[in-house]
Amino acid sequence: MATADKEVETTGLTGWIDRRFPMTSTWKKHVSEYYAPKNFNFWYFFGSLALLVLVNQIVTGIFLTMNYKPDATLAFASVEYIMREVPWGWLIRYMHSTGASMFFVVVYLHMFRGLMYGSYRKPRELVWIFGCAIFLCLMAEAFFGYLLPWGQMSFWGAQVIVNLFSAIPFIGPDLSLWIRGDYVVSDVTLNRFFAFHVIAIPLVLIGLVVAHLVALHEVGSNNPDGVEIKAKKGADGIPLDGIPFHPYYSVHDFMGVSVFLLIFAAIIFFAPEMGGYFLEANNFVPANPLQTPPEIAPVWYFTAFYAMLRATTDPFKIVLMIVIAVLGLLALLKARGKWRLGLPVLAVLVLIFMALTESKFWGVVVMGAAVVSLFFLPWLDRSPVKSIRYRPLFHKVFYAIFVFAFLLLGFLGTRPPSPAATLIAQICALIYFAFFLGMPFWTPRGKFKTPPERVHYKPH
Ligand code: HEM
Repeated sequence: MATADKEVETTGLTGWIDRRFPMTSTWKKHVSEYYAPKNFNFWYFFGSLALLVLVNQIVTGIFLTMNYKPDATLAFASVEYIMREVPWGWLIRYMHSTGASMFFVVVYLHMFRGLMYGSYRKPRELVWIFGCAIFLCLMAEAFFGYLLPWGQMSFWGAQVIVNLFSAIPFIGPDLSLWIRGDYVVSDVTLNRFFAFHVIAIPLVLIGLVVAHLVALHEVGSNNPDGVEIKAKKGADGIPLDGIPFHPYYSVHDFMGVSVFLLIFAAIIFFAPEMGGYFLEANNFVPANPLQTPPEIAPVWYFTAFYAMLRATTDPFKIVLMIVIAVLGLLALLKARGKWRLGLPVLAVLVLIFMALTESKFWGVVVMGAAVVSLFFLPWLDRSPVKSIRYRPLFHKVFYAIFVFAFLLLGFLGTRPPSPAATLIAQICALIYFAFFLGMPFWTPRGKFKTPPERVHYKPH
């Protein structure tokens, strides 16, 4: 029953619903009376855009499923049928394929914002962790979906990635057989990837997005100044620097959505393949298990991680072993308490394991560790301020080098391997991990500016 203290409607249809379901109170809590900092900037568009793309993927996905056939003998032709025969099928398909790439564009920018403004710091650790889990799910969703058109790249991409699991010692070969359900990627694999792509992962993804937003609304949004607006409230209990999400940010986000849709439509109508980056030429050729394409490269959003995998050669494994040995030695000299012995012992065990296992396996570990490192960011960063605005210049330089190394890895992952490219990718991979592992040491150092008491805001 609705209670008076929730100040809900008591008359009409709204009142009828409110007495049975917390409609008005939920709307108020999460929208019209959710107080967001008034200094949100450009970087705050990408959360709502990610929601928009999520809805786009689900809706277009439902319509694609109505005509797609998850059968190795029919899948490729069913996609061609959607493109040529189904009314507006080409639009639905391009909205879905472009949506996949734009999802990653938006999410990478969204994550970059979090990194810049320290949005992962206390009390938003769970917001960030749910975000990282979303990122993992998104990668799985894109990987499973990519097999469905059953083109050459779909087939060989899945073959390469599933084969990676066979590099895991002891259980690897059985594990990859279990994932495929067959000795090669086949109709069985297509069926299970379809099930994961259309229902299992989307359910988890939606659940995580809800958790992400519930966690965010529990603690409140961060902002470009990294100032906690809840620390300064007026007599009415409302943060002095807060404005209601609706109508202020609903209108603001509507503007972002409009610009995004212009770009989205321009890609769909004028460059849906995006020069081979969004849809690869090889995937317009039906899957042929007897003919390996000359180059197998993943879609652009995976290439940075793929470049790290390829960079993990035998000599690079030795470099990694040296790094681990040095870290173990440092722990022996500097660590306190149980860590003093625990960490060096762990380092020795890892070194023995590394010596006994092939570099391909360590490539998989490096690739996985690159994503897993993100989860630990809230505890690795020890800087006394959140936002990049108030950090020393050298922090900004480190951030820029990190982003540059990541982009360079992404670029190298799209190119065929060469000795020079592999060396550059190895350096970039080391920079990537040094950024995270070094954080506890470099983030508290330097001359910080004092963040303001209230947020900086210029009306426009
Ligand atoms: C389907 C994907 C995602 C959706 C729909 C989504 C949605 C949102 C929305 C609507 C917001 C509030 C608006 C904003 O601050 O921009 C938000 C905030 C946030 N998201 Fe996400 N997000 C997604 C993925 C991620 C990922 C992958 C991460 C990080 C790994 C992440 C980290 C954050 C953080 C830290 C905040 C708080 C930012 C702040 O208050 O400054 N999100 N998200």
